[in-house]
Amino acid sequence: MQLTVNGTAHEVDAEDDMPLLWVLRDELGITGPKYGCGIAQCGACTVMVDGVAVRSCQLALGDVDGEVTTIEGLGTPEALHVVQAAWVQHQVAQCGYCQSGQIVQAASLLDLNPEPTDAQIDAAMSGNLCRCGTYPRIRAAVRTAANKLQGA
Ligand code: FES
Ligand code: FES
Repeated sequence: MQLTVNGTAHEVDAEDDMPLLWVLRDELGITGPKYGCGIAQCGACTVMVDGVAVRSCQLALGDVDGEVTTIEGLGTPEALHVVQAAWVQHQVAQCGYCQSGQIVQAASLLDLNPEPTDAQIDAAMSGNLCRCGTYPRIRAAVRTAANKLQGA
């Protein structure tokens, strides 16, 4: 089937029940999304489908009904996405393993709700786990990105 990832259309030769995460990493070589739990409980594999954050480890290829965006499609080193720039500003990452999922989740939140309250940020990010405990810096970075979008 045809799958569009980060603006590029791919012809994918895989079973319909293959998880999107496997397709991205093993078939297309897009390794930003990570395997953490495999059961939609950690968020390491988060990507967007038509702007909405999804857990790619639990989304079958045959059920993907839109364009996929991974961390690789958010920004470039020369032109970081506002969320990526805030992540750099706050030096959020520790080991880094969870971070692509965190950033994609935050980008999806701000796409859908550019003026989130702190409670809405906490709710949106609550399903993305970080074994290194970077949560305070994650919250601060999302707040910075939201403020930037609001021109503050
Ligand atoms: S690997 Fe998908 S949610 Fe953990
Ligand atoms: S930075 Fe290490 S798991 Fe989040």
